[in-house]
Amino acid sequence: MNIHILKSKKEASLYASAKIIHQIHHKPNSVLGLSTGNTMISIYNDLVHAYKNHMTAFVKVKTFNVDEYADISRYNKNSFFYFMNKYLFSKTDIKLKNTNFPIETNSKSYDKIIKETGGLDLLILGIGRNGHIAFNEPGKSSNLSSKTRKIILSDETIKVNKLHRKNITHAYTVGISTILKAKKIVIVAFGKEKSNAVYNLVNGKMGYNNPSAFLRDHNNFMLILDQDAARLLSIR
Ligand code: GLP
Repeated sequence: MNIHILKSKKEASLYASAKIIHQIHHKPNSVLGLSTGNTMISIYNDLVHAYKNHMTAFVKVKTFNVDEYADISRYNKNSFFYFMNKYLFSKTDIKLKNTNFPIETNSKSYDKIIKETGGLDLLILGIGRNGHIAFNEPGKSSNLSSKTRKIILSDETIKVNKLHRKNITHAYTVGISTILKAKKIVIVAFGKEKSNAVYNLVNGKMGYNNPSAFLRDHNNFMLILDQDAARLLSIR
């Protein structure tokens, strides 16, 4: 595990987007695993900026998002497809036919589709305040061999993601085994509200109650943090 602590959210975000740009430069038809959430907004803004300045192109890239809310349409403003389209897809040359989401129709075969596409070259993840990665919430269903599946969102995630009034209680997510099969994994976290989750990722007991810790065993795993998210680590 490599840990990179940058001075600010802005610098950390640029560092993360540079990893993606480097990946695409090295392999223009890269298969990327992508995430949603506030953490990703500044990273996608940086990527769009780079695209508009001809520093990168997505025309050959294939993407697999790691999660999606269940029982809502992709055109619903709360859907992760809507988010991705708003912040990245519609602002770059990514072909929508090359984008994938774990939804009802393909959740059972999502792992197979990823494998047939050649596997994820680079997977960019955030982390929830309670330590969830994608929607692998702490609990038995997030065991080491978990695959893409439908899950019940935790009360905390429903609260943090303000889902109460939106009738959203379930989601589809890739599993821990799906994540660990990626060739390179990056987790990005900003802000002091993530410092506990980051501490548990780095130092906590490995197991389904602390699913992010499984990533410590991956041979190409990088953690990109700002100073606030890193404040409980003593490695600075
Ligand atoms: C969301 C997503 C995750 C994301 C995490 C952190 O609900 N399911 O993929 O990494 O929670 O989100 P944020 O960046 O908004 O804190």
